[in-house]
Amino acid sequence: MPHYRSRHRPLRHAVVLPAVLAAALAIPSLPASSLPGPDPLAASGRWEGHASGAARTPPMGWNSWNAFRTEVDEAKVLGAAEVLVDSGLAGLGYRYVNIDDGWWLKRRQSDGRLQIRTSIFPSAATGGAAGTSFKPFTDQLHAMGLKAGLYTDIGRNACSQAYDLQSPNLPQGTTAEREVGLDGHVEQDVALYFREWGFDYLKIDACGLADFVPGSILVQEQGYRALAPLIDRSAITRTDIGAVRSRYEAVAAALAAARPDNDYVLSICAWGMANVRAWGKQVGNLWRTSSDIVPSWTSMLHNFDSAAKRPLYAGPGHWNDPDILHIGHGEFDADHLVQARSHFTLWAMINAPLLVSYDLRNGPASLLGVLGNQALIRVNQDPAGHQAVVTYDSDDAQILVKTLGDGRRKAVALFNRSAAPVSIVLQARHLKLADDAPVLLQDLWSNRTLTFSGEQPFTLAPHETLVFAATGKRILEHGVYLSEIPGALNVAVDGTRQPELDPSIHRMIDPWSGSRSPGARAQYAGWGGAQADATPYGQTLQVGGQAFDAGIGVLANSRIQVRNDAAHARLAATVGVDDSSASGSGAVRFYVYGDGKLLAASAPVRLGSKATQISADLRGSRIVELVVRDAQAGATQPVVATWGDVRLLGAGLR
Ligand code: GLA
Repeated sequence: MPHYRSRHRPLRHAVVLPAVLAAALAIPSLPASSLPGPDPLAASGRWEGHASGAARTPPMGWNSWNAFRTEVDEAKVLGAAEVLVDSGLAGLGYRYVNIDDGWWLKRRQSDGRLQIRTSIFPSAATGGAAGTSFKPFTDQLHAMGLKAGLYTDIGRNACSQAYDLQSPNLPQGTTAEREVGLDGHVEQDVALYFREWGFDYLKIDACGLADFVPGSILVQEQGYRALAPLIDRSAITRTDIGAVRSRYEAVAAALAAARPDNDYVLSICAWGMANVRAWGKQVGNLWRTSSDIVPSWTSMLHNFDSAAKRPLYAGPGHWNDPDILHIGHGEFDADHLVQARSHFTLWAMINAPLLVSYDLRNGPASLLGVLGNQALIRVNQDPAGHQAVVTYDSDDAQILVKTLGDGRRKAVALFNRSAAPVSIVLQARHLKLADDAPVLLQDLWSNRTLTFSGEQPFTLAPHETLVFAATGKRILEHGVYLSEIPGALNVAVDGTRQPELDPSIHRMIDPWSGSRSPGARAQYAGWGGAQADATPYGQTLQVGGQAFDAGIGVLANSRIQVRNDAAHARLAATVGVDDSSASGSGAVRFYVYGDGKLLAASAPVRLGSKATQISADLRGSRIVELVVRDAQAGATQPVVATWGDVRLLGAGLR
């Protein structure tokens, strides 16, 4: 396979303001708000999280790509569908059956209508004016109780047209006929896929915006129309983030129009590029956070890391997507069940979509057993949609804790990233449970139970992940820390000034270019984004020497929304400029709003100030907003702001 380019490659005391006084309080307008247009930090009082589409929980199903690449065909896809149904996996939630790249023949020039390659999808040869149709195929899937998914590209050409040039299933014909992507055809194609053909899910790749570079060998040899790249995989500064986003927004609008019943899933496949890890949640139901997974442990680590520290960016309807599962292949095949279980457990814990992608017709029963772990599926599909938070972090091992429902139950995973055995001491406090009361753990693979108080040591085999359901006495008996309920938060504005590359992601040897480069570099923007139980740069939350196990770490000039669904009565936090802040001069103020009205504010605080208490009466407020603003202009670097121990109290936890 030729490679034209690496593929992926000081107020000391609380200030609580009565509503009238609050309304009269003048909020200074500083950097973020001095931009023309509406103030992005102004509390809207309206949930701005993504609400379109049918992905209240992470999508589950099967995708053809890792199994067959472009050598996909109808028998293979329907064969997978049959196994999903017959094995009971469909009944457990694996409902989407998605055709990836390889299905198309050409774009008909008389009317721009896409034609299907009927040699591999025979039921599409319906004849008549339409030429071809996927309706018989989607009818068949729907009759089996399944949903149907399709693949396209946001540009003119698809990834296979750059990277699978030996494929027998590339689009054929003239340059224009081979332009099978959405560019210039958004409404037409979306209406065709969703209204006429009856698909329910669309994965939209982005090679068309990245790889068909003017003057490139690819464009010259293959006779493609060139497009000056909007995505430069090696430089975020040479990527037109706004243009990429608005193209996906146009598709989102077309989808909403084509499916007014809201029964669709929009999957953005821009491989963590173009700062999609920050804005994907506003546009799609899932967005890839990294390059393509390959069936190796190190690739799995890379893809996992690209999503695992982003719990505040996901929630019901919008999910981080570290890519389809590679269970069934390479280091995740039936001879590597420890690794396959780890891969599955990790994806379940971080609310990743669970899309199986091996040839199910010929797979071993042991793997069906992994995919069919009902307890883990329930963890992944928990309706509250709280992605796990990393509560112990190292390159060797991690502890991930996922709140189930309102917080009374948790799932906890102990993950040995390394190739050697590792000792992990699980503490009750990792789970935000009291250490003076018993903690009950139920192993979600073996069903065995164990009880401990305070802490419990475990030894993990190489690459092993243990996962338990956990109950105990909550540290916060009558409330919940915001970092326990990331699915109820929406990072409306994260305070980053420009996209920065995230250095915290495992740097694998690139499977496509190997070591033919100076080294594996950080690739994905998103560094400095809001974090649960850590600062935006991955440090312990700490203000004036006081460290916090719990809290939300943000940059100044940020706005975070919280859905107060459980009608909590009060928000309390200990706030200040984080001791890790690189900017020593800036003062910031913290504000709490309820349904758009100011409820509480801190005085200006600066680096070194003691942490200050803030408390707000939330009674009657459904949308709470946490705003931090620079209180004086001119901080050269963003100030790191810490909402220490920020929690909802009273009522709630029904
Ligand atoms: C890209 C995507 C993959 C797959 C292929 C198809 O690489 O990231 O998931 O869809 O294109 O060519």
